[in-house]
Amino acid sequence: MKTLTLSFDSTHTKRYLQIAAAIRRAIENGTVTPSEKLPSARALAAQLSVNRHTIMAAYDELVAQGWVEAKQRQGYTVVRTLPVYRALVNDKVHVKTVDKHAWRIVKPSQESFNRPAHDYVFNFAGGNPDIEQFPFNEFRGFINDALNRPTVKELNYGDNAGFQPFIKEVSTYLRRVRAITDKEVIVVNGSQEALYVVSQVLLKVGDKVAVENLGYRPAWSALQNAGAELIGIKQTEQGIDVDDFESLIKQHKIRLLYLTPLHQYPTTVTLSAEKRVKIYRLAQQYNIPIIEDDYDHEFHYNSQPLPPMAANDPAGIVIYLSSFSKIMFPGIRLGIIAVDKVLAPHIVSYRSLINHKANVLLQDAVARWMSDGGFERHLRKATRQYQKRRKCMVELLNAFIDEGIAIEFTMPKGGMALWVNIGKNAQEIADLAKSQGIFLLAESAFHLNQKNNENKFIRLGFAGQSEAKIKQGLMLLKPLLNKK
Ligand SMILES: Cc1ncc(COP(=O)(O)O)c(C=O)c1O
Repeated sequence: MKTLTLSFDSTHTKRYLQIAAAIRRAIENGTVTPSEKLPSARALAAQLSVNRHTIMAAYDELVAQGWVEAKQRQGYTVVRTLPVYRALVNDKVHVKTVDKHAWRIVKPSQESFNRPAHDYVFNFAGGNPDIEQFPFNEFRGFINDALNRPTVKELNYGDNAGFQPFIKEVSTYLRRVRAITDKEVIVVNGSQEALYVVSQVLLKVGDKVAVENLGYRPAWSALQNAGAELIGIKQTEQGIDVDDFESLIKQHKIRLLYLTPLHQYPTTVTLSAEKRVKIYRLAQQYNIPIIEDDYDHEFHYNSQPLPPMAANDPAGIVIYLSSFSKIMFPGIRLGIIAVDKVLAPHIVSYRSLINHKANVLLQDAVARWMSDGGFERHLRKATRQYQKRRKCMVELLNAFIDEGIAIEFTMPKGGMALWVNIGKNAQEIADLAKSQGIFLLAESAFHLNQKNNENKFIRLGFAGQSEAKIKQGLMLLKPLLNKK
């Protein structure tokens, strides 16, 4: 029996897997040939100074992978036709160069999901919370709790709508803080999953969906992925133009309306109560469900925010989306849909296709945190802080205006960003800013149709960075804003 010449690498941590991989390499490179008998486990164990059971485990692994067979009374031999070369039916190992597969991609990757903002020193991306302010230590306690006293049944498959104690906490919160009753809550892995699933459940290829002319591209991508054709509604400084919406309804069979009523994304305008009533009536009259994306409800500073459209929805047409991305951090991937009870099971069932349900351990920890009051303590603290940051940004921009820099903005009642008219070359200024380590987005990033792009506005997020950073970043931006 010849001695095996084996070369080892450190890909595997277990010794028997290292040995199996080395024997496999010896077979692949022809050191050991098909049908060749391998050394007995005892002999190889002696050669490699390991236990005989380690060699047996390595051989068993190779048998399971199809490289080696165990024959009665003969021991282990290399198979006659090796797994990778079975198609070639050769007795000799025969290495052939193989052309790499050219993938047929039928769903091209989406530009709108590239978010490089945090690579910049000054990050004025509009929807970023300040993650460093999140009470990680406190939250760790609730994760530990969820692990120390697990709800074992819930950690299994099933109950795909969500973890009941979490749904209970969220439902109470929605009722108390947002006046939403009479809806079923489904837990999702963030609003994006909700947008995708709702689009798939409600839309057919070619269906028309009305959206705000300026809006949130990832939502549009989800709608378009379901085959929707997007129809833009005109926007005024007071929010969407209801007459335009009505005339679009009369021209097209609109199947769905996607709105960000509280702080319009990206212009920050709050849709007035009067407009909401008109839009709701039209939607009800023409059977158009409304997706209400209430992505940053908590951050409203001077008064109570208007209750969501979902709070006054007798016909049950509002599909309400809320996310934990802003109130915790985007990486938490947690969100909810509150929806009419007839629609709810369809959404749960479709979502089960892609991901059964949302992470139960996480829902458990957040439910414990909410029940303890920690969640709302954090919200109050973050809201106070973002309000100060809004003040800081507004004061500095007003000082720029006093110095003669021609910019205009309306202080938003809430949200996490300002929509600033800089009067000129917004895209050029955003590009120049990037070259100086400042991330911000210009108007063009938000238009459904670039023919409406006046290239005058930039969006400046104030929530995600400290007041010191806001000041430094804006001072660097100042000469660009002053550029003729
Ligand atoms: C308009 C809008 N909707 C929803 C979201 C949150 O999405 P998700 O919950 O998938 O993180 C964002 C975040 O940027 C947003 O701006």
